Amino acid sequence: MTISVNAIKPHIGGIIDVSPDRLLDDETIEAVRRELEMRGVLVFPQINVSDELQLAFTDRLGDRVNFTRQVPGSDAETPDVYKITLDRRLNSEPDYVLGTFFWHIDGITIDQPLPKATVLSARRLSDTGGATEFANLYAAWDHLPDDEKREYEGLTVIHCVEAAVRPVHGHPSEERRARYKAMAAVMEQPLVWTHDDGRKSLLLGTHADGIVGMPGAHGRALLARLQQWAAQPDFVYTHKWQEGDLVIWNNQGLMHRVVPYTDEGRVMHRTTIAGKERPGVAADPAKVDRIYQVA
Ligand SMILES: [Fe+2]
Repeated sequence: MTISVNAIKPHIGGIIDVSPDRLLDDETIEAVRRELEMRGVLVFPQINVSDELQLAFTDRLGDRVNFTRQVPGSDAETPDVYKITLDRRLNSEPDYVLGTFFWHIDGITIDQPLPKATVLSARRLSDTGGATEFANLYAAWDHLPDDEKREYEGLTVIHCVEAAVRPVHGHPSEERRARYKAMAAVMEQPLVWTHDDGRKSLLLGTHADGIVGMPGAHGRALLARLQQWAAQPDFVYTHKWQEGDLVIWNNQGLMHRVVPYTDEGRVMHRTTIAGKERPGVAADPAKVDRIYQVA
């Protein structure tokens, strides 16, 4: 039987209806690999995976990343399954989770190949909010006018955790800044990433803090305009979760964020598949200084 993938919107999203016992089949895995490139984000409605099955699915697709040793909120019992929740009993540092309210790419401020894909399963839902939005950064590049494409190619961007958590903390304490600094790098990433297969996508998100060689305000203004462009409705799919849904997305070609929620009931289990391509490098401090200059 052929696995069918139903498109959600022309530029983004697909639904795969398979039973849990077929999740690890060669045919399913092949369809997931192919459609992650084409559709960006794939939904398995109410498939109700266990942690064990989610990890097995993750392992079938590539090398598992263990983020839990690098981010706050680690859980010693299931170290490769990160619990995304505001419940302090399950995640010791939920304020880090508040950063997910803002557009981001997972793992972009760590000096490593950019994680290929993220797998998220809904264990308990929030009464308010909690939908996840995905924006296709391949489509955002493809649809730019040619003159803008020429202008942006070759530009590089500084990405850092400090920018990612600025909307959460405003002015973080010295102690908190030191902690975030220790767990991540300041990275210089291309604005336009040419992947190994020749396709191009933009690299954007709240962690993008300035453009190398431009005064801070000029760089941030351009990044804000591009982020708004990339988040236009045609390029975005909003997933309204049902308990038991599993979603996988191409983290190298999408940015994502969650619609804010306040209750501690929502619990998502996340696993991550390592990437092989490394678009950026650790930033040269001299270049970083310039993005904090006014003119
Ligand atoms: Fe995320």
